[in-house]
Amino acid sequence: MQVVHTVTALQALLENHKQGNKSIGFVPTMGALHNGHLSLVEHAASKSDIVVVSIFVNPTQFNNAKDLDRYPRDLNTDLEALSSVKCDIVFAPSVEEVYPEEDSRQFNFGSLETVMEGRYRPGHFNGVAQVVSRLFDMVKPDKAFFGLKDFQQLVIITEMTKQLQLPVKIVPCDIVREADGLAMSSRNMLLTDKQRKNAPAIARTLFESCNFAPDLSVEKIKKQVEETINATKGLEVEYFEIVDGYTLQPVDNWEKSDYIVGCIAVFAGEIRLIDNVTYKNR
Ligand code: PAJ
Repeated sequence: MQVVHTVTALQALLENHKQGNKSIGFVPTMGALHNGHLSLVEHAASKSDIVVVSIFVNPTQFNNAKDLDRYPRDLNTDLEALSSVKCDIVFAPSVEEVYPEEDSRQFNFGSLETVMEGRYRPGHFNGVAQVVSRLFDMVKPDKAFFGLKDFQQLVIITEMTKQLQLPVKIVPCDIVREADGLAMSSRNMLLTDKQRKNAPAIARTLFESCNFAPDLSVEKIKKQVEETINATKGLEVEYFEIVDGYTLQPVDNWEKSDYIVGCIAVFAGEIRLIDNVTYKNR
């Protein structure tokens, strides 16, 4: 595993591999790596010759300065985690390396970005698109791997590659969970013991709700999920939307689409957790 911090060093390494006609699989991350990230790396390794992982906490996607400040950063621990899987190149650039100049591009993802995360975190997806498009330009991957955990992000990145006509295939990867169901997240380590104990109620409630759909209406499931989670001490639902998995627009009945996903954001104190569940996929 080779670790580089500059675009020049990255491209020198990639040049060697590309001359050998090797396919490049890319996993962009913000570090604080857990098994969810590592599963993406393993998936990338099974589908590509060379695996590149980037570790970069991207300032342009944080709409809350405190959230950016407290985002966990520990490169050595991340490198140790990556040494347990097949990762060939780690790209860990500085902010100046990624943004030598301010990026003023404004993307337009239409109604994909005005709902859910986009609605509650204004500017977030513009920042994600800025950094992912820059990283794609630096790495020039054949395939890039993204977790379904960040469902809206995955849909938006897919749309971005379409808009920019980038020759990269976006590969969705399953959500990896703790034994108690909590979706793995770098933010989980910021939870107090008490919050950590309560947080699995989010996934549990989502899974339970799958047993009631489609017998109960969309509206009733929405209400039930929100009420159950809000009744758990220390958890507060910010939004729970049941949406068409392609357009991300809310559906009001189970027949409206062949792909229906329930997406949730919940505050555990100041820590914001997201998760989702698929109700219907063809
Ligand atoms: P980050 O939160 O570090 O996540 C990196 C990748 O890991 C994303 O594709 C995310 O969906 C995936 N991931 C996180 N938790 C997961 C889990 N429990 N199961 C499966 N996959 C999981 O998402 C970002 O970083 C950034 O927005 C980024 C795309 C790197 C741009 O800065």
